[in-house]
Amino acid sequence: MDFNKKSIDELDVSGKKILLRCDFNVPLDKQTGAITDDGRIRATLPTVTYLLDHGAAVIACSHLGRPKGEWKEELSLKPVAARLSALIDRPVKMAKDVIGPDAKAQAAKLKGGEILLLENLRFHKQEEKNDPDFARELASMAELFVTDSFGTAHRAHASTEGVSHYLPSACGFLVARELGHLNGALNNPARPFVAILGGSKVSDKMGVIRNLLDKTDYILIGGGMAYTFIKASGGAIGNSLCEDDRLDDARQMLQAAAEKGVKLVLPVDTVAADRFAADAAAVTVKSGEIPADCMGLDIGPEAAKAYAAIIRDAGTVVWNGPMGVFEFDRFAAGTEKVALALAASDCISIIGGGDSAAAIRKFGLADKVTHVCTGGGASLEFLEGKILPGIACIDDK
Ligand code: 3PG
Repeated sequence: MDFNKKSIDELDVSGKKILLRCDFNVPLDKQTGAITDDGRIRATLPTVTYLLDHGAAVIACSHLGRPKGEWKEELSLKPVAARLSALIDRPVKMAKDVIGPDAKAQAAKLKGGEILLLENLRFHKQEEKNDPDFARELASMAELFVTDSFGTAHRAHASTEGVSHYLPSACGFLVARELGHLNGALNNPARPFVAILGGSKVSDKMGVIRNLLDKTDYILIGGGMAYTFIKASGGAIGNSLCEDDRLDDARQMLQAAAEKGVKLVLPVDTVAADRFAADAAAVTVKSGEIPADCMGLDIGPEAAKAYAAIIRDAGTVVWNGPMGVFEFDRFAAGTEKVALALAASDCISIIGGGDSAAAIRKFGLADKVTHVCTGGGASLEFLEGKILPGIACIDDK
């Protein structure tokens, strides 16, 4: 996907009312409702402060969680308004609704240099349906639409795509940065170009592998998805995760990789256990020789060593999906060794959002890599080579 979109620094935003789509979908503590990680709010601060400092009246909007069209107080954006206000050290006005009388009245009064946050967009079911009337109502409050929401770029919703039909539009700095890194890796990578793919479901990653087979030098496989590949290669995987309906796909990928000269590497060993539990006894076995009553929960030490050596000599690495059940300390070593190797390497290292971002943060290494994406689903669809509707709809330069 080419990035030839208008950016906010090419526009005169002074005195303009700007509808700013953010991804403030932050994790909340289940008991207290407190924000447990404000990374996504921080990531959009350069755009927010630029717009305010240049005299724009900013009407920020976001979803939070999946309320599916129902008003759920626990998914109100009020805590986000408070955190944003603390981070920018200015007041953030909070609307009582999304396109209702309070939002419209506050938006109408908003002056340059002020910011208003609308309530959770997904309190209206029309948001996810990309309803044109809902999009028109949202757009009616502003003169310009800016997206800084990379995390929802793969969603064609009213606030991500629909509003672009009614307003001139531009990208914020976060979106430009995300796409700059991802485009650079995919289209002009320093070589060797290595993709590390993990996570539990091979079906989630087949499209990515297919697309990356034409671009990468190595694809390193880990996580639960590795066992479908190992079984497809004739190995015994015991009770490990396996998508039997994807065995043929896995065989095809292995064959295609061999034909294209891409090294698609499976873990040589596995840390297995007899049950899926944090305190399960761990045993290291060869990957194709997992006992019948055991399941693989992490790549083994030999595999981690081999992956670390490839990462050390890489020019570019894109990582999406953990190598094992890193939430359990006993099965976190493979993911940690990969994270440490990335942190120590001089390569350009791009971490897809979601679980791999959570893993690199858990090990305290997020500031040792080139870029951590703020969007898990969006970065995955980008790696699959799909068009992201939340970006495609923005005005070209
Ligand atoms: C994310 O968390 O990946 C984005 O905020 C998108 O959320 P969604 O998957 O609920 O659309």
